[in-house]
Amino acid sequence: MKNVEIIGTGSYVPQRIVTNDELSTIVETSDEWISTRTGISERRISLGENTSDLAAKAALEALKSAKLDAKDIDLIIIATTSPDSYVPSTACIVQELIGATNAVCFDVSAACTGFIFALNTAVQYIKTGEYKNALVVGAEVLSKIMDWKDRNTCVLFGDGSGAMVLRAGEEGIIKTYMASDGVKGREFLHCFAAQNKNPFMYNSLDVKDKITMSGKDVFKFAVKVMASSIEKVLETTQNSIEDIDYIVPHQANIRIIEFVAKKLKIDMNKFFVNLNKYGNTSGASIPLALDEMNKQGLLKKGNKVIFVGFGGGLTWGSVLVKWTI
Ligand code: UT7
Repeated sequence: MKNVEIIGTGSYVPQRIVTNDELSTIVETSDEWISTRTGISERRISLGENTSDLAAKAALEALKSAKLDAKDIDLIIIATTSPDSYVPSTACIVQELIGATNAVCFDVSAACTGFIFALNTAVQYIKTGEYKNALVVGAEVLSKIMDWKDRNTCVLFGDGSGAMVLRAGEEGIIKTYMASDGVKGREFLHCFAAQNKNPFMYNSLDVKDKITMSGKDVFKFAVKVMASSIEKVLETTQNSIEDIDYIVPHQANIRIIEFVAKKLKIDMNKFFVNLNKYGNTSGASIPLALDEMNKQGLLKKGNKVIFVGFGGGLTWGSVLVKWTI
């Protein structure tokens, strides 16, 4: 079995910044409420670019940083909750946009945990030797599926993308962990797709094709599984939390991260946070954060980093990685 290294990162966010004050002109809210309850100050909103556009820009940057050509990529996986279309997959659209003519392409749907699931899927394929160079992207234009009249959700999310290039190597990914529970919490976070409406039905339900969320339930779930996922990915690896240099958490709410830090007695400085600038970008949040860390020169060869996420489904998971570049 081979191991898997991360050899490049990239990201892209739309130019348009929407501040909390600006949102307070659309729904009954305030900068004070949003920043104290979530830590978010502003987010980026697409003025027309679709998910594949954001994904392609992050992907090209990641390829550049990995010093690879798009034609070297043999696997593209995109994590998204806000795809361009049902068919084709966003990954197939990105294949064309970046000219990755030799890649197998598909999307993964696991809400805000999507990037962890996509990364873990690519890792398995590379470990078995099936593919050599993979591009994994988290990309979202959540503003398309936001209910802009619902202050419970529209203040939380933002648009963005992040990408990583992976290749077979000697060391890198130490352990991966994924979990799902569609039984207990499926209703906590919802966004319906097209419904069953056809000429042969007498009645059809009119359901909401926008994000709805039970914030408090998601909060409780998040704190629990973020902590357990960090512990889970350390188990049987001879690493303890003291050996970890950084944790890159899903960027949903600063209070969730603070709770987890307190629960596991981890210094807050180990958590990289950029949700103040971008809000919750769902599947994009972890690779977007990692790319910022990389650009800031925070990551040093040999550093041990944990990615940890949670989201609708319910889904959650984590990755322990030794930084090799
Ligand atoms: O990637 C996963 C995505 N989801 C999450 O991570 C969400 C996790 N949950 C959370 O982050 C928090 O539960 C929220 C930030 C969503 C909400 O914070 P909270 O402290 O749980 O507030 P709440 O839902 O209990 O609402 C408190 C009050 C309510 O008013 P009343 O009933 O006390 O009068 C809400 O109606 O705040 C009101 N409220 C708002 N007020 C101003 C809810 N949204 C807003 C708003 N502006 N945007």
